[in-house]
Amino acid sequence: MTTAEFGFDSTSEEVTRGIDLSGTSWLITGFNSGLGEETARVLALRGAHIVGTARTASKAAEAFERLGIEGTPIACELASVASVRAAVDAVRDTGIALDGIIANAGIMALPELRQQDGFELQFFTNHVGHFALVTGLIDQLTDEGRVVVLSSMAHTMARERGLELDNLSGERDYHPWRMYGRSKLANILFARSLARRFAEAGSRRTANALHPGVIKTNLSRHIPDAEGMFSRMTVTLKTVEQGAATQCFVATHPSLSSANGQYFSDCQEARAIPAAYDDALAELLWARTEEILSTL
Ligand SMILES: NC(=O)c1ccc[n+]([C@@H]2O[C@H](COP(=O)([O-])OP(=O)(O)OC[C@H]3O[C@@H](n4cnc5c(N)ncnc54)[C@H](OP(=O)(O)O)[C@@H]3O)[C@@H](O)[C@H]2O)c1
Repeated sequence: MTTAEFGFDSTSEEVTRGIDLSGTSWLITGFNSGLGEETARVLALRGAHIVGTARTASKAAEAFERLGIEGTPIACELASVASVRAAVDAVRDTGIALDGIIANAGIMALPELRQQDGFELQFFTNHVGHFALVTGLIDQLTDEGRVVVLSSMAHTMARERGLELDNLSGERDYHPWRMYGRSKLANILFARSLARRFAEAGSRRTANALHPGVIKTNLSRHIPDAEGMFSRMTVTLKTVEQGAATQCFVATHPSLSSANGQYFSDCQEARAIPAAYDDALAELLWARTEEILSTL
């Protein structure tokens, strides 16, 4: 299913070489920084039109200016359901058919418990916000549209306690990394549920999740001693160009047109923790997320 030639060192330009994306459009969340910005740059280099979302319209416009590309800037603050719904409307109003949605934005390891509408903020931003955006835009996807959800190897930090659906406020024993891990497990389960829905509907649309690697970006802004953390790490860091490769690969490579409900790392299919394959849990999360959104 995957292309053996790509791996840890591959860059986003390498994995998309020879792929003509002229006439295609891709929505990328958080395209004003880090992996999202590199993904936008490279997909545009291959001819794609980018629908770029950032927390504010000015951040989105500035990102396009910095990248030197024309695109469609959309304001989307994922921690505000009102903002996400406005973004859904704004994208629909453009009439642009999306060949893919790359749910890339995220926050990590907030040192203290922060909440939105009573829910822990990493879960809310990384999962609930993206759930509302992606499900709101399903009809906008082309027949073979691909949804690509950024998870992380850090989903393993939820190994012991899982999704903690009875602790979505985060108030019981808050831990920055465990809660980040929970949100990233939710990202995989969301992709899995969506994949199942696509398959059951007989659709050729796909949904997959991935770990991009470990890359120094603004993501570590909330970590008190980020430099110290990176220097103590035993894993090899990736450059931003390598870090964005897996999402560019999963989003665009022709060899993955039927990959659905899978988890990738280093441009290869990879193994997530057992809970990430628990379809009953994935459905519980889907129902709980719909319930949350119905109250907001
Ligand atoms: N870097 C890594 O080592 C690593 C490892 C595993 C997984 N990941 C995943 O990769 C993805 C991209 O991360 P990155 O490393 O590129 O980090 P980054 O440079 O910090 O970019 C994150 C993006 O998300 C946006 N964002 C954050 N909160 C948001 C909100 N409430 N509403 C809308 N947008 C929001 C940020 O906007 P602002 O700039 O306005 O804050 C930024 O554009 C994340 O999902 C992360 O979990 C990264």
